[in-house]
This record gives sequence, C-alpha cells and structure tokens, in this order.
Amino acid sequence: MKEMAFVVSASKLLNHSTLFFWQKRQRPHISPHRHYYLHYLSKRDNTLLLSQSHSPPPPPSTSSLTNKKNSPSPVRAAAASTATAAKMVKAIRVHELGGPEVFKWEDVELGEPGEGEIRVKHKAIGINFIDVYYRKGVYKASSLPFTPGFEAAGEVVVVGPGVTDLKVGDMVAYPGHLGAYSEEQIVPADKVVPVPPSIDPVVAASVMLKGMTTQYLVRRTFKVEPGHTILVHAAAGGVGSLLCQWASALGATVIGTVSTKEKAEQAKSDGCHHIIFYKEEDFVTRVKEITSGKGVDVVYDSVGIDTFQCTHFKVRPGTRLFSPLAEKGSLDCLKLRGYMVSFGQSSGTPEPIPLSAIAPKSLFLTRPTLFHYTTTKEELLETAEDVFANIASGVLRVRVNHTYPLSQAAQAHSDLENRKTSGSIVLIP
Ligand SMILES: NC(=O)c1ccc[n+]([C@@H]2O[C@H](COP(=O)([O-])OP(=O)(O)OC[C@H]3O[C@@H](n4cnc5c(N)ncnc54)[C@H](OP(=O)(O)O)[C@@H]3O)[C@@H](O)[C@H]2O)c1
Repeated sequence: MKEMAFVVSASKLLNHSTLFFWQKRQRPHISPHRHYYLHYLSKRDNTLLLSQSHSPPPPPSTSSLTNKKNSPSPVRAAAASTATAAKMVKAIRVHELGGPEVFKWEDVELGEPGEGEIRVKHKAIGINFIDVYYRKGVYKASSLPFTPGFEAAGEVVVVGPGVTDLKVGDMVAYPGHLGAYSEEQIVPADKVVPVPPSIDPVVAASVMLKGMTTQYLVRRTFKVEPGHTILVHAAAGGVGSLLCQWASALGATVIGTVSTKEKAEQAKSDGCHHIIFYKEEDFVTRVKEITSGKGVDVVYDSVGIDTFQCTHFKVRPGTRLFSPLAEKGSLDCLKLRGYMVSFGQSSGTPEPIPLSAIAPKSLFLTRPTLFHYTTTKEELLETAEDVFANIASGVLRVRVNHTYPLSQAAQAHSDLENRKTSGSIVLIP
C-alpha cells in the first residue's frame, strides 16, 4: 500500500483563469465557465431513477463485463468502424455476496462498444463505501456474478457508432456505471465527463463520486453560506475530507467527528474548526457546548445507525447505542428549522423515525443520493465542472491517501470497513 498525500501538486493546479483560457481556445464562442462541457451535452436524459426499498435507491447496476465461463458475451451487430475485436481483461468479480474475501481476480471478456458507447482503459479506479454495500448485498446488483465499482478515470480506446463528441485518446471519468473494478470497461458515452488536462487521472477517479456528492451536498441539498455552523460526521473520510474543505471555504464554521488523533489532524487541516472524538465523547453535548446551546444549521450524516438515532425513539430492545455517552443523536444537534441530511450508512441503515421526531424543531429531513442530482447529462457535467474548478482553484485538495493494485481490492475493502483509511482510496490497474 502506497501512501500519497495531496497528490494535486502545485504544478497540476491550474487556476481558474488558466483553465478558462484553455477552454476558450477550444470553443471561443461559448462563455469560458460553461465552455468545456457544453459540446458533451447529450440530447437525451440519462435518468437513473431506481426502485425504492428500505434503503435509498442505488445507482444503475448494468455492466458490460461478462465472465466467459458464466455468461456469453452479447453479439453486437453494429460495431463501429473504429471498434476492435472483443478482448479479455482482468477484473474483480463477485460470484457470491459477502466479505472482502468474495472478490475473485479473473479474466473476463469485454464486448465491443455498441451504439452510443465507448471503451475506456482505466488509469485509476475510486473505491467508495457504496462498493461495500454492493459486495454485501445491501444494494443489489442485477445479477451474479458482477464486477463492482462505480468510479474511474481513463483513456478512450474505442469509440462505438453514433458517438460524435469523443475520440480515441480523450481522457474521461465517470461516477455511476457499475463495473469499474476492471482494467477496461464499456461505458455509455453520455455517462462520462471529460477530464481537463490540469487534473491528474488519479485525482479525477477520486472525485467523481466523492467530489460530486460533496458538490450537491454543500451547494444544492443545503446551500452552505458564511455564518452557518455545520456538523460533518466521519470528517476525515473520502467525502468528509472534501466536505469540510468546501464548507469551510464557503465561510461556514465546521464541526467534525472523527475516531482517531491522526484523522483529527487531517480534519483540522481540511478546515474543521472543532473536532469531536465521537467514540469517546458525547457528540450531542459537545455540539451544544460549541454552539452555546443553539445547535447547528445542518448535519451531514453518512455514518447512519450509530449517529443518526435519537434515543427518544430508540426504545426497541436490541437497538444499538452509538456510545454509552451518547444518549441522543444527530437530530438533537440541530437548531430550529435545521437540516438533517442523512446521506450514507457506513455503520448500518438507521431505523425509520416518526414524523413526530422532526416536529418539535420544525426540522427538514432528506435522504439524498448523487444519482438524483445528476439525472441529466447537463447536471452531470455542471456538477463535474464545479468540482474540477474548485480543484483547479485550490479550494479542494484531494487527499489520495491510499493506493492499491486493482488485484488487491479485497485488502482495500477490508481497510475501509475497519476504519483504517482516510481521504480517498484508489485502485491502480
Ligand atoms: N448519498 C450519496 O449520494 C453518497 C455518495 C457517496 C458516498 N456516500 C456515503 O458517504 C459515506 C462516506 O463514503 P466514503 O466512500 O467517503 O467512505 P469514508 O468516509 O472514507 O469511510 C467511512 C468512514 O466512516 C466512519 N465510520 C463510522 N462508523 C463506521 C463503521 N461502523 N464502519 C465503517 N466506517 C465507519 C469511519 O471514519 P472514523 O474512523 O473517523 O469514524 C470511516 O473511515 C458512506 O456512508 C457512503 O455511503 C453517499
């Protein structure tokens, strides 16, 4: 495992004006801020709404990778003139749900890109907690076996018929197409975003899901502004690190929860003004102290059952308490008309709560997911544009703290689930 902190070196950080200058050169008639992405806009929506169960809707679970032994590769009649023959690639495969040990390193046959598709040779693949949910079956892949992973960056190596806005050699990245734990994968062209030359592909692979999630959380779910006080759980995690940096840059006072001193140091340097060690301290009491009893404007809670629950409603026997010290949960940290944003469940899915839990303070409660904030190609590109611009300007320092060879994805998952990681985790094919 190789540790890499702050991989966005000064030389890679173009400021806004440099980025816009480069954009302007490509398409001078369009305003610099919107320029680079506009010609990638698709004519159709790529709506990704999925069925709702107890858990929030997962992203689409289609994948172009097929294990030769288990399912034959689909024959695609209309191959592009530029397409080459189907080939074998190495990938991580899940044949049965379970722990990290279910990952198998296998040869799989990659079909040829069909209408509107491209083949991408991955340079880097991001690991996300959602991959754990899929491996365990919390979210369901459409079939077994499947190749996990939703986030990667790489080079276009084959362009399918009907794709006019991408060419071989382009660097692209994507946040929502199952099958990323592979050397190469076939992706619908309208699901990728172009990676500006100033952004290292390893960084791009780290911010597709995590960075774009941060974007909608601080800019759209709740619009963070100067004067706000916010609580971020798991402040040193992949999303947490970016969330603290962005919210702090927007002028908010940031309170972050972490489990270790090392993570506290990172969160501090990411702009956290107050740190709470939530394994040892009652975070609700600490938030009240920090805010002089007022509470925070918004809680961003991705930990789930261990932090979200409020003991007023945790009366069923066997329900877990986060800590003997914590008698209440995230809802209790909010001020009047505060926003409860529950966007993940790394410790488990919170129990349902009654409406009466949010009535006493007229709270807002939402359980958002990235795929509902990027329902159209335009939304996808605008979100990516905002993330890349904030990296280029230095607001976001992407911490790629852990890299593993793609074949070692099981070790990476084990480390993530055991809370040994901070910042982003990347697999290198
Ligand atoms: N809704 C969306 O659109 C969306 C999109 C992306 C990610 N997410 C969610 O955001 C969260 C963070 O994702 P990530 O990939 O960046 O992961 P991450 O935050 O890097 O890793 C999870 C962190 O959660 C904390 N944690 C607390 N209790 C835990 C437990 N019982 N088991 C494991 N970890 C625990 C740990 O930090 P400490 O050691 O400091 O406690 C751990 O490092 C996940 O819940 C994920 O599902 C949601």
